[in-house]
Amino acid sequence: MAASFPLLSVLITFITTYLATSASPAAAVAAQYSVTSYGARPDGRTDSTRAFLAAWNKACSSPSPATIYVPAGTFYLKNVAFQGPCKSTSIAFLVDGTLLAPSDYGVIGPVGNWIMFHAVDGVTVSGGTLDGQGKGLWACKASGKSCPQGATTLEFSNSKNIQINGVASLNSQLFHIVINGCQNVKVQGVRVTAAGDSPNTDGIHVQESNGMTILNSRIGTGDDCISIGPGATNLWIEGVSCGPGHGISIGSLGKEFHEAGVQNVTVRTVTFTGTENGVRIKSWGRPSTGFARNVLFQHAVMNNVQNPIVIDQNYCPGEKNCPGQDSGVKVSDVTYQDIHGSSQTEVAVKFTCSKASPCTGIRMEDVKLSYKNKVAGSSCQNADGTASGVVQPGSCL
Ligand SMILES: *[C@@H]1O[C@H](CO)[C@@H](O)[C@H](O)[C@H]1NC(C)=O
Repeated sequence: MAASFPLLSVLITFITTYLATSASPAAAVAAQYSVTSYGARPDGRTDSTRAFLAAWNKACSSPSPATIYVPAGTFYLKNVAFQGPCKSTSIAFLVDGTLLAPSDYGVIGPVGNWIMFHAVDGVTVSGGTLDGQGKGLWACKASGKSCPQGATTLEFSNSKNIQINGVASLNSQLFHIVINGCQNVKVQGVRVTAAGDSPNTDGIHVQESNGMTILNSRIGTGDDCISIGPGATNLWIEGVSCGPGHGISIGSLGKEFHEAGVQNVTVRTVTFTGTENGVRIKSWGRPSTGFARNVLFQHAVMNNVQNPIVIDQNYCPGEKNCPGQDSGVKVSDVTYQDIHGSSQTEVAVKFTCSKASPCTGIRMEDVKLSYKNKVAGSSCQNADGTASGVVQPGSCL
């Protein structure tokens, strides 16, 4: 009995302290803003852009955590920029419905972005479908007519502490999700779907950003599954399946002379099915201060992939501004570990590195790739490194 008193008083102190700190209404209850309260209509036709902005402005200026709620139904939305900085340090976009872009690419195509967040901190987007309605623009591009470049579906720029959870992105005009100039970003359970021949519809693109994880996502699209641009550091990708599309690519790097490097990238437990590439590092064949270093590709399965493992430092589209030049991008400390499966072409491992700036510290460990049920081939240029464990095709390092 005597012994239980101190315990009880500790418990009471704990409860009263807890109530005192959480009882202030502002701190306890997150403010909720439903877009329908601001005039958004789930009918797929009414322009809900102003309503979304009005809800955003309320949430952004809220002194407490805020939730913007998008109920079930289809909301027609033109290009919209959710601008920070905000007073609220935590804003959740909770989406049950579908956001529908204009089918006429002339509306958002020239703007370059559909849904944009700029200079925000602590924003989470959860659930819902973002339908970019890109088919019209893809057809325009395929016809050779002059068309706008197109709009990225969802972009965060100059932001931090961002989460994107369980969002489905469908038929983007241009890239699906872009992270540019951000810190501490977590993307998980994302589903990207677009035709395998849709142009420039990268699934997730990251650049100039530090500290990002991409987990448990499925990406089928017409361009890169995930593209990693200049200035991406401390990036972790795990549990992603890609296909159709062009695979996971670091690059293109070295387009500019003065360029930030890519470093500390881990790509693990990924599956590629019928993609053009598996894991690729790609740079322009021209001088640059850029680099890619400390990269780990681990536990990858290749199912009938055209080019499972590639480093290509001779990228020179249209043979303009680079013919005859060597890439200045330094590729170093890249490890390929436990990568197996099948290649659609005979040369499953291809390291075409720069003569001016050869690849160093390439490590191959337990790599096993077949072509037509036989051991595939490999080719190396200006690539230095080591092989250990089972490495088939045999290492050319
Ligand atoms: C890369 O990772 C190493 C080891 O964890 C760390 O020391 C280094 O600061 C990181 N580089 C960058 C640019 O963050």
